[in-house]
Amino acid sequence: MSFANTELLKLGSRYMKCMVFRCFILVILVLVFTTVIYPFTGSNWLPWRTSNWIAMSAASNLQHAVRRDKFLEVPQIIWGLNNQKIALARACLTARFLNRTLLMPSLSASLFYKEVELLKPMAFDKIYQFDKFNCLCDGFVRLGRYSDLLNHSMPFEIQKGSGRKWTKERDLDQLKQCREESVDNSEVIRIGGKNPFLWHDHWPVKDYAKIFQCLVVVDEIENEVAKVISKIREVGSKVRYKIDASQNEESADSSLGQHVPYVAVHMRIEKDWMIHCKKLEQKLRIEQICSSKEEIMERVSQITSIQQPVVVYLAVADTLLEDDSILSGWNDGLLPLEKKRLGVWGIYKKYPYLIQSAIDYEVCSRADVFVGNSFSTFSSLVVLSRTQKLIRMGFTSSCSAEVGYSSYAYNLLGESGGAKRWMTDMSAPDLVGISYGTNNISCYSNWNTSL
Ligand SMILES: *[C@@H]1O[C@H](CO)[C@@H](O)[C@H](O)[C@H]1NC(C)=O
Ligand SMILES: *[C@@H]1O[C@H](CO)[C@@H](O)[C@H](O)[C@H]1NC(C)=O
Ligand SMILES: *[C@@H]1O[C@H](CO)[C@@H](O)[C@H](O)[C@H]1NC(C)=O
Repeated sequence: MSFANTELLKLGSRYMKCMVFRCFILVILVLVFTTVIYPFTGSNWLPWRTSNWIAMSAASNLQHAVRRDKFLEVPQIIWGLNNQKIALARACLTARFLNRTLLMPSLSASLFYKEVELLKPMAFDKIYQFDKFNCLCDGFVRLGRYSDLLNHSMPFEIQKGSGRKWTKERDLDQLKQCREESVDNSEVIRIGGKNPFLWHDHWPVKDYAKIFQCLVVVDEIENEVAKVISKIREVGSKVRYKIDASQNEESADSSLGQHVPYVAVHMRIEKDWMIHCKKLEQKLRIEQICSSKEEIMERVSQITSIQQPVVVYLAVADTLLEDDSILSGWNDGLLPLEKKRLGVWGIYKKYPYLIQSAIDYEVCSRADVFVGNSFSTFSSLVVLSRTQKLIRMGFTSSCSAEVGYSSYAYNLLGESGGAKRWMTDMSAPDLVGISYGTNNISCYSNWNTSL
């Protein structure tokens, strides 16, 4: 029943493996140390062969490591949470391409699009766990701190080109040149100019996915997420409890200890989005990008994989929190709630935009059912994380109703008038579908190797 628990166990064990590996390395270091020191003290309890084997296995583990004495520096990362995550991953992959540690970049706490001087920088480690990131991404990419720099010599600066002439090929050529010895000698390569989100993309979805897996929110944020989710489940259990109680008291009691499912809907209907999506529809000549409130309600109510009554958490823009109409018009079996109605606005209000968005992201990622818009980066990354969870649990398809963690796109029509089932295509060669959106989605992931 509880997919969430299985998932937590798996994630937990992944982290444990990572920590166990660290301990393993520590033990090796101790052993190597003792074999070096002990011969001088006359004691020789460790046979030569064993120490040799240990040294060799340590070396083979280090072989794939990203260099720790060469760094890449990138400009401050800006815009929405998920644009920032993509930008961060792209910077990490660029650093990996150059076999360099990425100097921990600044994210942005606020969401000003135009007034760049108002962008409040926020350190990566205020949101995500720095050590855990390096532990989980060990051997793939690595983040470093400015205090790791040995040599405060001038960095080698390069500018990303811009305009139509700056093609993907030219961009890649520039990166390749940075691997040449004359540039590679510099301790730091600093890339100037554009936000990494706007850099050309050279990597497949699975590489981005590996990095997103290493982003674990800090304990403070995790605690807030847990509070919000437990509040949602509390309301959900009351809704179910009432129904159960009217039927039979015993089942009411037994329902108390059960997993109470919830649906999360990333409802994009605010004015800014409507203007943006209408323009996008014209540009792409697709009529399936903008969904009205009524269309969303209708398509969510037709989803059959979840038993009603159920709580529907609405992840909406702050401007819509004043708009009571988003809470009315839902089917009887669906109880819509947003932050204010749920009584958790106080939790969110304490934080700047970026953290509020990070909390909503986690609440949506962990929902039993998620419904979003396939042209939204936020929705796309939520579905990507849910697809990864399903793959870790052994499912490459959510086409059958029994699979937990199902996701849907309300802007696309699925079976029987409901929202369309959605899993990320993990074999996509680039991130275009995710960062710009797509109407070509399906309920299988097209991916059969473990991540
Ligand atoms: C990075 O450099 C180290 C040290 O030179 C090397 O052992 C490792 O294989 C390189 N990694 C990649 C991905 O090229
Ligand atoms: C420090 O930088 C200088 C050039 O600025 C270089 O010659 C030297 O090798 C560097 N030292 C280290 C330890 O990287
Ligand atoms: C839709 O995506 C699938 C893989 O997910 C791909 O094979 C197919 O070519 C795509 N169709 C269009 C029209 O882009």
